[in-house]
Amino acid sequence: MKVQVDRRDGLSAAADVTASGVFERPEKDDSFPRSLQKEDEATGGLIKAAWARKEVKGKRKEVSVFHRPNGKGRILLVGLGPRAKFTSDTVRRAGAEVVRALKGRGARTVAYRLGAFVAEPVRSEAAVAALTDGAILGSYEFLKYRSTGEGGVEEATIHLGEEFARDEASLKKVVAEQATIDDVVVWARDIANLPADTASPQRLADEAVALGKEFGLKVTVFDEKKLAEMGCGGILAVGSGSNAHPPRMVVLEYGGGARRGRTVAVVGKGITFDSGGISLKPGASMQEMKFDKSGAVAVLGILRAAATLKVPPRVIGVMCCAENVPSGTSYRPGDVVRSFNGKTMEIINTDAEGRVVLSDGLGYVVKQYRPDEVIDLATLTGSEVVALGDDTAGLISNDEKLAQGLLAASAVSGEPVWRMPLTDYHREIVKSDIADVRNSTEIQVAGMLTAAAFLESFVGTTPWAHIDMAGPAYTTSKTRKWQPAYQNTGATAFGVRLVTQYLGTAPPRS
Ligand code: BES
Ligand code: MN
Ligand code: ZN
Repeated sequence: MKVQVDRRDGLSAAADVTASGVFERPEKDDSFPRSLQKEDEATGGLIKAAWARKEVKGKRKEVSVFHRPNGKGRILLVGLGPRAKFTSDTVRRAGAEVVRALKGRGARTVAYRLGAFVAEPVRSEAAVAALTDGAILGSYEFLKYRSTGEGGVEEATIHLGEEFARDEASLKKVVAEQATIDDVVVWARDIANLPADTASPQRLADEAVALGKEFGLKVTVFDEKKLAEMGCGGILAVGSGSNAHPPRMVVLEYGGGARRGRTVAVVGKGITFDSGGISLKPGASMQEMKFDKSGAVAVLGILRAAATLKVPPRVIGVMCCAENVPSGTSYRPGDVVRSFNGKTMEIINTDAEGRVVLSDGLGYVVKQYRPDEVIDLATLTGSEVVALGDDTAGLISNDEKLAQGLLAASAVSGEPVWRMPLTDYHREIVKSDIADVRNSTEIQVAGMLTAAAFLESFVGTTPWAHIDMAGPAYTTSKTRKWQPAYQNTGATAFGVRLVTQYLGTAPPRS
């Protein structure tokens, strides 16, 4: 999907479909909105007529299509919902609803009329970025294994019109940057959607190596032999059950932009398939566990976006990749394994494997790079989904500045994040009778937070944020219907836009 900017108003242009947003009509106010005057003229009065018979209400997700006389293109109205609830995410959703509604409807090009998507508190910069997100992410489909398909919109143009034409240069820049990030999201979704027979730990390593070649990043792949020498007992233990797909740890280094200063490490959970291992999961929905690599794929995406946009900080990516399956060589409940930093972990449940692989990645990056900040991304716990649902990630951090920076980035990127507490209560729960920490407990309380307490013991005092994205990392046909139109079924690549936004905007640490 290509997104561009045009100074004309969008009704004179020759796009297959011209799209405008319309607010929900206030009760007891039947007057026709002046903002739709030009659209109405273009259809020869069809829109006014539809308004009068209350066919168009401006409710969220409402899409109405009108034909211009002589069949010269169509005018599409997309509902924005109540005026009082208007945010940039409304625009992101509406932008996506437009391209989704046009799927298979013979439209190759769409023109968004910017003026119809800008209203307090959403300024033109935020609106064009959100429309770009909506167009690119909303038209995303995972097509690799489809032998048939319907064509969709291939080109979106954001039309400025008289009102915004003088900001053309700056708005063009915003759109180009956002499209760069969204293209990375699409790329990451394509990897995250791959099934586990294809997206093995080695395949994820190969993707990192290819990325490194393309952008001149240093990429190091640690195989099982090297991991053993280094003492990465966590990744090795979790990966020990898989004879077909041995574990890998991958480190990517982006050197930083011109204003380079601090070093930020991003560490991702890359379980290519999580069957639970010997502590086998129930069969229902187990196929969703191919998405358990989403944290590591987000790391790939973040590094790609950072290198493309040349964000200021130096960024170190670590992907902790293993397949968690049961076999005669699997690790077992009761085992004690030693992590890279020397701490021992008692395995209570082999299905609590994410924290076990992350312990090595966190310990390694902290020791080797002494980063100013560490952010880990992981589909870590079912408790996260229970607590926050499948749209919001849990954020746990030992550092106020880092946490606030990520929350601010979340408000811009539209990926919801909610901060959760971490106290001595949680730290107490993960203490083991025979080792330094245990990876689970007999009774499950605050599962998202005890998992975070476990991780914390591997970062020490380094400013650290843990993003548990078990809920928002993917959608299924069951959960899809209450997700925004810019999340198709499957991987969302959650975290790529969020952390890229953070890296691009957070002020240097003083
Ligand atoms: N990968 C799962 C968490 C998960 C659940 C991700 C649902 C996405 C959707 C993780 O490895 C896991 O199995 N966690 C267990 C931990 C428990 C055994 C302590 C969980 O949360 O149930
Ligand atoms: Mn698990
Ligand atoms: Zn898992």
